[in-house]
Amino acid sequence: MNTAHTISLTVNGERVSCSIEARRHLVDFLRLDLGLMGTRAGCEHGVCGACTVRVDGKIVRGCLVLAAALDGAEVETIEGVSDSGKIRDLQDAFIARNACQCGYCTPGMLLTAADLLSTNPRPTRAQIRQHLSGNYCRCTGYHAIVDAVEAAAAARNARTGP
Ligand code: FES
Ligand code: FES
Repeated sequence: MNTAHTISLTVNGERVSCSIEARRHLVDFLRLDLGLMGTRAGCEHGVCGACTVRVDGKIVRGCLVLAAALDGAEVETIEGVSDSGKIRDLQDAFIARNACQCGYCTPGMLLTAADLLSTNPRPTRAQIRQHLSGNYCRCTGYHAIVDAVEAAAAARNARTGP
């Protein structure tokens, strides 16, 4: 039986209260109920990383999280993070290096890359590859994405000093 739950949470800083089916996944809730299409639905089995979002500051796979379990949570999608301006440098670096082609993986890649740089401001290329290894891209061959993350990190470090 698929019962409805009433939840109240914050999405990109806005309070949202609604009744939701018990089995509704976060990615579908964001896309279909809230119209936040920047979060992609890819494999829907926790493999590709296209559905990456932040919940309470940590990146999660939206296809593996039930929205009904998020009462009281704070959710951030690519729309909110992008609007904040905090990943503008990463976005610009992706564009400059042609690291987004079809763009389907890009929101998840950006959120995962931002997560890496928040804890490791000077990652090696191997560390960038490792951190992004759960985010699949069918277009770029990954090299340009690693270049972009490396360049954004270097630019941040040049601004902040050693
Ligand atoms: S759609 Fe969630 S990991 Fe692929
Ligand atoms: S740019 Fe097309 S899947 Fe990554």
